[in-house]
Parts: sequence; C-alpha cells; structure tokens
Amino acid sequence: MKSTAIANSNIALVKYWGKRDEKLILPTNSSISMTLDKLHTTTTVEFSPSLKEDQIKIDGKKILGEEAKRVSQHLGLVRKMKGENLFARVESENNFPKAAGLASSASAFAALSLAATKAIGFALSRRELSILARQGSGSASRSIQGGYNEWMKGTKEDGSDSYSKQIAPQSHWQELRMLVTVLTTKEKKVKSRAGMAQTVANSPLYKAWLETVEKDLETVRSSILEKSLFRLGPCAELNALKMHSTMMTTQPHIMYWEPESIAMMKEVMQMREDGISAYFTMDGGPQVKILCLENDAKKIQKRASELKGVEKTILCSAGEDAKTIEKGLF
Ligand code: DP6
Repeated sequence: MKSTAIANSNIALVKYWGKRDEKLILPTNSSISMTLDKLHTTTTVEFSPSLKEDQIKIDGKKILGEEAKRVSQHLGLVRKMKGENLFARVESENNFPKAAGLASSASAFAALSLAATKAIGFALSRRELSILARQGSGSASRSIQGGYNEWMKGTKEDGSDSYSKQIAPQSHWQELRMLVTVLTTKEKKVKSRAGMAQTVANSPLYKAWLETVEKDLETVRSSILEKSLFRLGPCAELNALKMHSTMMTTQPHIMYWEPESIAMMKEVMQMREDGISAYFTMDGGPQVKILCLENDAKKIQKRASELKGVEKTILCSAGEDAKTIEKGLF
C-alpha cells in the first residue's frame, strides 16, 4: 500500500482567479497553463494499519496545523472513494521553494493525488485524477498531464465537468521556454486562496476580469496550437496584469509585487524595445516568469540574472505528465 509519484508544477497563461464553490474548488473562469519540466514535487504515500494518525513531512520537516489538515483532508477523499480508513505516512519533496509563488500547491496536490490513489489500489483516469487534484488546490488539476492544459470551469454543481484537458502535449512546441526568475524565497503573506476570495468579494474590477477572460482563453488556446509567441505573449502578459489589477483594487489591497518584480517587468519591456521577444507573467508571489523562444533564452537569462536582487533563474521547457516512480522517499 505504498506508492511514489512525481508531478511538475505549472504556470497559468490565462489565470484561474476566483471560485464559484469554495469547498469543491470550482472556478468562476477556465484557465490555461504550461507545465514546467524543471519544477517538480515527489511524494511517497504509504497507508498502514499501524498508524494512529496521518504523518506528513514536507521538505524534511514534519508539518502540523492548517497545512497538515489540508493534506489529511485530501487523503480523506481518497479513503472515502475506497471505503478504507487507514492512516498514511506521507513524505513530499519540492525541488524549488514552496509557497513563494512558484505554484508549489499545483505539483504537490497532483503528486499526492496520484501517489495516494495508487497506494490505496486505484487506477484512476487522467480526468478523474484531475478532478481529485482540483479539490486539493485548483491549479493542481492542471498538473496531472504535461504540456499545455486547459482547466474547464464546468457548470455542474458537483464539479464532475470541472477538470483539465490537455491542449497539446509536451513535445508540441519544442522552442517555447519559460524563464523563472526567483527574486525572493520568503513565504508569501497573503495566500492565493484568501486573496482570491477577497478579490471576488470586493474588487470593482472583478466584473471586467470575467468579461474579458473568454477572449483571452481563445487567443491563448489558438496561439499555443499555432505555436505563435507573437500572439501568445502579449495576451498572457495582459491577462496577468488584469488579474493583479483586481488584487490591487480589493480592500485591503493585495500587492505581490516587490521592487525587484517591477524592475524585472520593466527589463522585459526593455528587451522588447531591443528587438527580443520576451513577455512576463506573475502569480501570487513576487517571482516574474518570462516567456520566450529557445533562440533568445540564453541572452534573456543573462540579462535577467544581472538585475539586482535576483536569487536565481531557472530555464524551463514544457514538462511531462505526472507519473509514478519506483524509488520512494522512504
Ligand atoms: C495566481 O490553485 O493555489 O497561481 O485553489 O485556492 O488552492 P487554490 O488556489 P491556487 O491558485 C492559483 C492562483 C494563481 C493563478 C493560476 O495558477 O491559475
């Protein structure tokens, strides 16, 4: 009753921002993302009759409180599906800093969903896994499959039509890159979950977000299929700015941008002035991610690394599907 899974993180090109059901994690809008080959979570789960409670370790540290509760609740969903009530030992490792705006909850809940269902003796379809992962963290629904995924918001109350579908596999666009610039690895003060709920509740711009997101989905979906960075980049950049505008206009306002983030975004704009095709996106944290093509990637990485306050940069391509592996963490 033991299994280990590895899942890549993903970064949205059209963001998920707002829930219509907080408990089932159903979104108000669909979203599209790229999985990243260099950022992943490995998780081992073992269900055992000798345990009196779930035992959870992340990056070598035992976790307690809210964080542990969220993992246990997710294991609870798997136990319920199987009609099993064994507790589990869970160990998870990220190869990047968690909760710093690098979508750690996406790879974490995707890996946990796959490892836990395999350990308990289930072989779920990709669609079922995406629905399960979604209930741990919305963005995790997009980390079950590699390449490019669209999480369809769905309309059903039970969430059975709210899952991610692959738009194109990992191999589809060999030249596309996403450069992740890590500006600070401090855990963020306002978690995406709380920020999202507050924005839906009181940002005057939230309505405009919803009104324009369908068009963005269409542009991003078709530009991925056509492999056109000239169409994809500007739309993804604007979509991220629109999401952050809704956050900045909620009360109390939320601003994930640090001075280094603004400097990096301006540097990307300057690169374009200099004839380099580069576009930025940002999530619930200070890190800036830069979309570009392989030919320009090294040049962009060098310029980005030279800015003040950059801890490191990670050059990513599209990642592969979440999968089980033999070698466990214990
Ligand atoms: C800004 O998936 O972390 O990264 O569903 O509450 O766990 P919960 O939220 P989460 O939110 C991600 C928000 C985002 C945009 C995105 O990834 O689409």
